[in-house]
Amino acid sequence: MGEKPADFEAFGQRRKLETPKFRFWISSIDPLFTFTALATVLNPDALLKFMDKLLSETLQTITPNKKERDNLRKFAKKVITQLNKHGFEASVEGSLAKDTWISGNHDLDVFMYFDKESKRIELEEKGVEIGKKVIKELGGVPELAYSEHPYTRTHINNIDLDIVPCYKLKTVEERSSSVDRTPFHTKYILEKLTEKQRGDVRLLKQFTKGVGVYSAKEKVRGFSGYLCELLILKYGSFKKLAKEVAKWEYELVIDLEKHHKSKKKAHKHFKDALVVIDPCDSQRNVAAALDENNFEKLIFAFRNFLKKPTIQFFFPNLVEPYNETKLAQEMAKHGDIFVIRFKTPKLQEDILYSQLRKSRKVIRKKLEHFEFKVMQTDMLSNKESFLLFEVENAELPEILTMEGPPISIDQKYQDAFTSKYKKEKPWIKNKQWYVNVPRKYRTVQSLLKNIIAEPEKNGVAKYVIKSWAKKCDVLDSSKILDNYKGEFSRFLTRYLSKKQPWEW
Ligand code: CTP
Repeated sequence: MGEKPADFEAFGQRRKLETPKFRFWISSIDPLFTFTALATVLNPDALLKFMDKLLSETLQTITPNKKERDNLRKFAKKVITQLNKHGFEASVEGSLAKDTWISGNHDLDVFMYFDKESKRIELEEKGVEIGKKVIKELGGVPELAYSEHPYTRTHINNIDLDIVPCYKLKTVEERSSSVDRTPFHTKYILEKLTEKQRGDVRLLKQFTKGVGVYSAKEKVRGFSGYLCELLILKYGSFKKLAKEVAKWEYELVIDLEKHHKSKKKAHKHFKDALVVIDPCDSQRNVAAALDENNFEKLIFAFRNFLKKPTIQFFFPNLVEPYNETKLAQEMAKHGDIFVIRFKTPKLQEDILYSQLRKSRKVIRKKLEHFEFKVMQTDMLSNKESFLLFEVENAELPEILTMEGPPISIDQKYQDAFTSKYKKEKPWIKNKQWYVNVPRKYRTVQSLLKNIIAEPEKNGVAKYVIKSWAKKCDVLDSSKILDNYKGEFSRFLTRYLSKKQPWEW
């Protein structure tokens, strides 16, 4: 007799369950899921146990150890001492202060305080001057950055340090910029979040990173760190949150401190897909920067996670690019794809992404205006930027059928139309005049060429225009195949496959 397979019992159970429907279902899922699904049939608690194990192992990976914490704290202390030496009170803010940071993510936000009476210009100039000095004293190279006002930053000892000037305030109502809210957030979270919940915040941050919706920055338009903290406070733990988010519906309002009389009123005020009233500021929706699509992406991710919890939700595998044969096969199933490639303008990330988004939007609109049916667009930006447009047909008929006036209006207007287009021979159908005229742009190529030649006229964003002035290529299907390498090949594979991040 041959040896029994290691999972013989589960195998035996599976044989009993095998019906054609079950076989189809089971063949479409991977072995790990087969294991978890069967385990759940055998023992209803098995999935929960499996999830607990997964969460505790993930938490171990993402929680900073003592050495990492000590290193960062020691360095933070140094920064604060230097700022004190220059006569400024200072504090550590952000996830490091709240102990919700993820191992390996060394973002150190140090705030330096100005008296409430100081003028804004003084805060800005002195803030930058002292920030620069302190960074130099620490051995770093200062760099100027901007949020609502300028501040300094540097990368030193594997740490991204921001020195941010703000006002020392007693209440958040006295704030003069959004930065002034941060110390209030830190205090609130420190007071409310338990030790165990800090771990839950870490899990939620890693989950949102894994599924591609972490950060309120323009690049992502997703869930900020502070929003993750508030969501854990709302639901109590990562597991409870997972179950609740899976049931979320559009236009959800969370008002932890009950600042607003009713959810309806709060929603009327903010009108976003998700409204999370800032406990420290009733007039702010913490989720204001969240793209509605990312709201749904998180719901979808949790609905899938609860059915089949895997590590890939937290740490997705790298996209495996299609080989060239598969790429050609997949592209053949799609519409016609065009990619505009150019050097990425050197800009602050938020500005860069808003420029790219704007340019993508105006080009899409132009394509639609000239009757190309745009199926989807996408973009990628690293050293080079790629704006992708997929259209149903790259070429349209030479003629365009244009609507004229209805036959019910005064004859003089109909005469004007028929004489203007006399040569083109207007005709009547369904009580309306029509005429066939030559199209201005028959091909996507010719329209894109025009947009690139006259970008200002076409509304392309300023810094994208500057980059195009140096060099800009339009890649059609054959050129896409020639340039299929590196990050671009992963981007294109992801685009064509439509697989979710956890499915690789
Ligand atoms: N903040 C905010 N709203 C945002 C982004 C940031 O109120 N959309 C404030 C919060 O007070 C937050 C602080 O800015 O604590 C720092 O934010 P950030 O550095 O973006 O992230 P962290 O919360 O520190 O999280 P992490 O570093 O783990 O990404």
